[in-house]
Amino acid sequence: MTARQPSDTNSAANATGSVPVFRVRGLTKVYRMGEVPVHALRGVDLDVAEREFIVILGPSGSGKSTLLNILGGLDVPTEGRVFYREQELTRASERELTAYRRHAVGFVFQFYNLIPSLTARENVELVTDITERPMDPDDALRLVGLGERLDHFPAQLSGGEQQRVAIARAIAKNPDVLLCDEPTGALDISTGIVVLEALERINREIGTTTMIITHNAAIASMADRVLRLADGRIAEVIVNADRRPARELSW
Ligand SMILES: Nc1ncnc2c1ncn2[C@@H]1O[C@H](COP(=O)(O)OP(=O)(O)OP(=O)(O)O)[C@@H](O)[C@H]1O
Ligand SMILES: [Mg+2]
Repeated sequence: MTARQPSDTNSAANATGSVPVFRVRGLTKVYRMGEVPVHALRGVDLDVAEREFIVILGPSGSGKSTLLNILGGLDVPTEGRVFYREQELTRASERELTAYRRHAVGFVFQFYNLIPSLTARENVELVTDITERPMDPDDALRLVGLGERLDHFPAQLSGGEQQRVAIARAIAKNPDVLLCDEPTGALDISTGIVVLEALERINREIGTTTMIITHNAAIASMADRVLRLADGRIAEVIVNADRRPARELSW
C-alpha cells in the first residue's frame, strides 16, 4: 500500500483519458437542525474511474453515508458540484434524478429491506420489472451464489443469504455503479466474506464501478483505492498496487 496526500490521488489513474464515472468538486453538506448547523461534508473533491473498486473508511459521523447518498442521488449537497459521467446531478431535475437512481445506481444497505412475503426471485423481479436493461433475475441470483435458493422466502434464508439477495436485486438492473453502505455490518466474518466475494465478482465480471462504506479496515485491501474520511473531509487516500481477493481477508 502507498499512502499519499489526497491532492495527488483523488483523481483515479485514468490512462484511457475517458470521462470519470463521478467527478465531485467542493462538495459541502450542512444539515440545519435548529440553532446548530452540522457540517457533514466540508469540501470534498473526488474522481471515480470506470470499474474502480473503492472502500470508504472513517469514524462514525465523518460523512461517509452523506457522501454516498449524494452520489446516489438520494440527497443533495449544500454547495459544490457532482457529475455522473456527462450529467451534472447538482443541476438535475427531480425527474432526472429519479431516472438516474432507477437505471444507473444499485444500492446495498446494512439492512436488507427484502419483502418478507416474496421469494428471493420475486424480490429481484420487483426491480427488473421497472428497469431498462435488466438481467434475468435467476442469473443475478446465481451470480451471488444463490442459484439453489430462488424460491426461498427471506425468513428461510440466513443473514448472509438475505444480503446476497439484496445484492442480486441491486445488480439485476445492470447498474453502472453499485453503492454499498456497510453491506457486511450485520454479518459474521465468514458470511461477510461470501458477500464481499459476490461484490468482487460483479466488479470484475460485469465491470460495475463499486463503492463500499465499511468500519472494517481489513476490507480495505480488496480495493483499488481507499478513502479515509475524517470530519467531513477526505483525510487520506491509499492506492493499492494489488487487490487482495476477498477470500483471503480475515478480521
Ligand atoms: N438527516 C440528517 N439531519 C441532520 N444531521 C445529519 C443527518 N444525516 C447525517 N447528519 C449528521 O451529519 C454527520 C455525518 O453523518 P453521516 O451519516 O454521513 O456519517 P457516517 O460517516 O456515515 O457515520 P456512521 O459510520 O455512524 O454511519 C453526522 O454528524 C450526522 O449526525
Ligand atoms: Mg453511515
